[in-house]
Amino acid sequence: MVRERPDQGLELLMRHLNMQIGLDLKQYKPNYLKRRIGVRMRATGCSDYLEYRQFLRQNPDEAGKLVNDLTINVTEFFRDQDVYEALRSHIIPEIVKHKRERSLYSLRAWSAGCATGEEPYSLSILFLEEIRKMRKDEPWTLRITATDLDDQAVMKAKIGLYEEIKQLPGIRMEDYFMPLEKGFLVREEVKRPVRFLLMDLVKTPPLRQLDLILCRNVLIYFERDKQAAILEIFRKCLRPEGFLVLGKSEAIIKSEDSGFLPYRRKERIYRRQ
Ligand SMILES: C[S@@+](CC[C@H](N)C(=O)[O-])C[C@H]1O[C@@H](n2cnc3c(N)ncnc32)[C@H](O)[C@@H]1O
Repeated sequence: MVRERPDQGLELLMRHLNMQIGLDLKQYKPNYLKRRIGVRMRATGCSDYLEYRQFLRQNPDEAGKLVNDLTINVTEFFRDQDVYEALRSHIIPEIVKHKRERSLYSLRAWSAGCATGEEPYSLSILFLEEIRKMRKDEPWTLRITATDLDDQAVMKAKIGLYEEIKQLPGIRMEDYFMPLEKGFLVREEVKRPVRFLLMDLVKTPPLRQLDLILCRNVLIYFERDKQAAILEIFRKCLRPEGFLVLGKSEAIIKSEDSGFLPYRRKERIYRRQ
């Protein structure tokens, strides 16, 4: 008698989803994946993976709901204030110094896994604060690429309207947000440098010579070998001595092999070798 492997149903379900929406679920940690799929199975009343696969076949909208569930968008402006303090007082001035010494006046960053936009807009505000201090005859330009897999999150990010905004001491929020009846709208000056793209993190983007990458609270969902592959993508996209900022519960293990060195351990800031 041929015995079915316990995860065979899950494998078939993953294969089906890969064909249906082109998403490679193998990159995620199995426990995380099972937990999130379990949420949708309960919501749809399916008792096993194969029943859920059948449900997906009959209800084309369900795949989108599952992706939404997989991509938890918890985020906020200036999340982990000490990290943003370090960015404001050390990292961004260091980037500006590096560029000015080379007469390069373009600042380029990537927010990878940007969710609903709070992260790239926080970054845009900090860079704009720094640019305001510069001599007016220096032609500084700022470009922040912000990517995420979740189309609904990216749609919200592009609109830039938030019910709540968390503040960073010393920043005049009214300079960067317009209060409206429904919340706070990110001003055009903050939005203009940010380009949002719908993109899977495991695909290499056409970004090179970046000064800074923020990939915060995203790598935790990925398997160890995928994490390494993503770090390699970041290494290629950064210029030498460019900075990488991870989430507070994330770290680069064996950083010397990864091409990154710890720069500020507590804030999880690394520097490309
Ligand atoms: C918890 S949020 C983090 C948001 C922000 N970086 C922060 O720290 O506040 C994780 C984000 O990663 C995104 N994500 C998950 N898997 C992804 C993938 N394969 N490619 C791109 N983004 C992904 C999710 O859609 C979600 O918006």
